[in-house]
Order: sequence, then C-alpha cells, then structure tokens
Amino acid sequence: MNYRHSYHAGNFTEVFKHVILIGLVQHLLKKESSFCYLDTHSGTGCYDLLSEAAQKTQEFTLGIAKIYSEKNPPDFVKDYLQCVKKINPNSELQFYPGSPYFVKEMLRKQDRMILSELHPEDYQLLKNFFPHDKQVAVHHQDGYQSLKAFLPPKERRSLVLIDPSYESSDEFEKLLKWLPETIKRWETGIYAIWYPIKNRSATDRFLKSLKEKIKHPFMIAELSIFPEDTSLQLNGCGMAIINPPWQFDLKMQGVLSWLWHRLSIDNKGRFSLTSA
Ligand SMILES: C[S@@+](CC[C@H](N)C(=O)[O-])C[C@H]1O[C@@H](n2cnc3c(N)ncnc32)[C@H](O)[C@@H]1O
Repeated sequence: MNYRHSYHAGNFTEVFKHVILIGLVQHLLKKESSFCYLDTHSGTGCYDLLSEAAQKTQEFTLGIAKIYSEKNPPDFVKDYLQCVKKINPNSELQFYPGSPYFVKEMLRKQDRMILSELHPEDYQLLKNFFPHDKQVAVHHQDGYQSLKAFLPPKERRSLVLIDPSYESSDEFEKLLKWLPETIKRWETGIYAIWYPIKNRSATDRFLKSLKEKIKHPFMIAELSIFPEDTSLQLNGCGMAIINPPWQFDLKMQGVLSWLWHRLSIDNKGRFSLTSA
C-alpha cells in the first residue's frame, strides 16, 4: 500500500466529497431515529497541511484554501466550512478534517459510526484520533470486507461512504463486484461512492456497468476543474449516490455551481448532476 492520503488532503475533490457527505448526513438528521455511518476507507481523521506530504503537492491550495475565507457560501458549504474552522481554532488554515471527523461532529447520541482503514499507520492514527469513544468503532480491516461484516446494521437507517484510493487498476471492477451483493443484503441504505475522473471513457464504462447492475435509484454528481480528456492529472471526480434522499439533486445543483465557479481553473472543467 503506497497511497498516503496526507498528500491529497483538502484538494478540490475532497471539498466536493465532504460537502456532499455533509448534505447526506443533514438529511439523516431530519428524523429522530438513529442511523449508522459506515466509512469503508476512512483515512486518519485529520491532516496537517503544513506536513511535508501536503506541502510537497500543495494540492490543498486548489481546494480548501480557495474557499476557506468565503463569507457567504450556500447551505451545505457553510456547515462544511464551519467544521474546517472548528479544527483550526487560530483561524489560519492548517488542519484539514477527514470524512470521519466531519461526520462525528454531526452525530447525535443515538447515532454511531464504524470506520475501516487498512494502512497500518493510518489505522493507528485514526484509532488515536477517537480514543475511548463508544460511538466510534475503528477497525483495521479491508473496506470491502467491512461491507460484509457490518451490513445490514441494527439501525433502520444508514449511510455508507466508499472512498477507495484507486491505487490498484482494478478498483472499478472491485466496486462492480461488491456493490450489487452488498445492496442485495442491505437494500435501503444510502451509499455514496467516490470516483476519480482521470480518463473520461474509463469513468463512463464504469458508470454504464454500474447502471446495468444496480436497479435502485441513483444519482451522479460530478465536478471537474480541468478538461477531462487530459490524462496527466486528476481532472475531476464524481460521487454515485445510491438511494439518494428525495430532491437531493435540486439541493446540490446550486452548491455544485458555486463550487465550480470558485474552484475551476480558467473556467475549465464542468459540473453535472444526473439521475439514473
Ligand atoms: C481516499 S483515502 C480516504 C479519505 C477519507 N475517506 C476522507 O474523506 O477523509 C483512501 C484511504 O483508504 C485506505 N485504503 C486503501 N486500501 C484500503 C482497503 N482495501 N480497505 C480499507 N482502506 C484502504 C488508504 O490507506 C487511505 O487512507
């Protein structure tokens, strides 16, 4: 496992992913009944943007750093920025929260979260980040195996974030293998699957196969800040949301437009929302 998320923390794809994540959790908070959050590829929970890794790539400068001081952001982005500011009490941007941190900040006492991380060092950092917290279960485990181990949850409602590192070239195949059997076992959960857009045609092949295999309603949100046909870099990313909340696409429309206008490089790339 060579992938270290600390090189990428806070980049534009993270902003996109975490804003959507917050929107989905806010939907679950509308009802009093408990929910379970499962994060299959959790990372460490928090990243130092002054670390050697983050400073080497400077990816956060094209992401969180561009919007950190925005005064009047739309709803989900407002909560997102509040959370990032909370972890940076000196108001200067230094730390960037991971997905477990964002969700933990929103959990009520009746809710709980399950986190899986396979990298031994990142697992230890994650475990140390939530010491003795009864609401949080941290597992040194393969994320796909955690789908099998923890679903269905005892709660009637759940959100599953599947956010792999795409380090191996067969990650799309793994998703296409695991998702149908997981959804068969737990049909009513909300699933959010993040994916990179480096090469448009490979991404489209994945989405086409996903549509063929998943018969549940799903929504695709995408954001790119570079042209999608240059294969040198990460041009954009998407989130496939299976069983999306009602009218979630309408809520996300303005949010994605706002993000694209601030993050796009010279008006390149695009944003889109489609329902399948
Ligand atoms: C994109 S990062 C996760 C970021 C995190 N979800 C967030 O939003 O802050 C992917 C993580 O998955 C971990 N990882 C890689 N392969 C894994 C596997 N098979 N199972 C669980 N975790 C894995 C990596 O070590 C890395 O920390």
